[in-house]
Amino acid sequence: MNKITKICVIGLGYIGLPTAALLANRGYDIHGVDLDQRAVDIINRGEIHIVEPELDTFVKSAVNSGRLKADTKPAEADVFIIAVPTPFHDGFIPNIDYVCAATLSIVPYIRSGNIVILESTSPVGTTDKVAELLSEQGIDICGIYIAHCPERVLPGKIMKELVENDRIVGGTTDAATKITADFYRDFVQGDVLETDARTAEMAKLTENSYRDTNIAFANELSILCDKFAINVWELIRLANRHPRVNILQPGAGVGGHCIAVDPWFIVHKGGKDAKLIRTAREVNNHKTEWTIEKIKNSALAFENETGKKAKVACMGLAFKPDIDDLRESPALSITKRLVNEGLDVLAVEPNIKSYDGLNLVNYKDAVTEADIVVFLVAHKEFKGLNIVNKLDFCGVVDR
Ligand SMILES: NC(=O)c1ccc[n+]([C@@H]2O[C@H](COP(=O)([O-])OP(=O)(O)OC[C@H]3O[C@@H](n4cnc5c(N)ncnc54)[C@H](O)[C@@H]3O)[C@@H](O)[C@H]2O)c1
Repeated sequence: MNKITKICVIGLGYIGLPTAALLANRGYDIHGVDLDQRAVDIINRGEIHIVEPELDTFVKSAVNSGRLKADTKPAEADVFIIAVPTPFHDGFIPNIDYVCAATLSIVPYIRSGNIVILESTSPVGTTDKVAELLSEQGIDICGIYIAHCPERVLPGKIMKELVENDRIVGGTTDAATKITADFYRDFVQGDVLETDARTAEMAKLTENSYRDTNIAFANELSILCDKFAINVWELIRLANRHPRVNILQPGAGVGGHCIAVDPWFIVHKGGKDAKLIRTAREVNNHKTEWTIEKIKNSALAFENETGKKAKVACMGLAFKPDIDDLRESPALSITKRLVNEGLDVLAVEPNIKSYDGLNLVNYKDAVTEADIVVFLVAHKEFKGLNIVNKLDFCGVVDR
């Protein structure tokens, strides 16, 4: 194989752009591709269209050095990296349409000896599907190397984790595995672990399903503890003193575009054999519904007692503490539901300025004005607030 010099990265979002910028700073020539012309223009000015610490510095130096150029169309390269979204359709059916479209878009540019890497989190069999699509388009796939290398970075620490995390590489052939793993070894300090494509796909889905299942255990405990009049935070603290027990913390559900999504990729394919993983998803979704009922009952009790409508402060909208990311956020869906069902809601999210359809209130004003304060996300601003009439679903004051 010739020396790798040029890389085409398809999809310049939270994963693709940091990867492109990192590789450009390592001396590769990067042709970044995104369908979003606005993102392309911003990147070509050396600026960023997403929020991620340190990314601005990496992109600026990559663009200034001439090693990162963005475009809406792919170009010839030694390596193609696909980092496009993999959401689900209604009914939790995996949607790999973006992956298929990205694959087809590189067909005119692929040459013998190229490497094609799928980095998107994907249902088992998707990398084989990429190979199949290329083959159907007349590409001789015996001459190219196709592999999956799932991404497992934590937003907020992407630039660090891109380099330091261990990576799993699984090719559709042994040669593809080996050659792709060697490519990652050039810039990854963590171990690069070799397997086949299907195992690599399942490994990523397994990691997120593991987290989901463990959170479901904590969420179920929180519902049971409420029923048994036990403080769940104290219970977990005590149980975790067992040397081999490590229960996670409950919350108002599970959010984000990974843990709340990826287990469905296993359930869809696994059917009735994916009992525990499906149940975990259902338990975590149920926790959100249960939370809504608790808040509504509390507001009703207040009204019956005082004869006036309760003002409810919903503290936090993001899917986890101290970020501005609202994707699949249980806190956001709870707040919207309460508003839609006619409750008098004061919405609070210190990490964002505005949200369509919600009137955001400063957290200090909200706790002063509210009759009931509902803690949905454990943002640092809320720690230590001393509130009498409260419901704490995230342990920010009761833990
Ligand atoms: N963001 C994370 O923290 C994270 C972590 C691990 C894995 N992942 C996975 O990585 C993949 C990408 O996620 P993301 O967060 O970067 O998504 P994103 O939405 O931030 O970015 C994807 C980009 O791809 C572009 N795009 C879509 N179709 C395209 C096409 N055919 N050609 C060119 N560009 C196209 C979109 O315009 C968008 O800018 C997903 O599978 C996700 O599950 C994400």
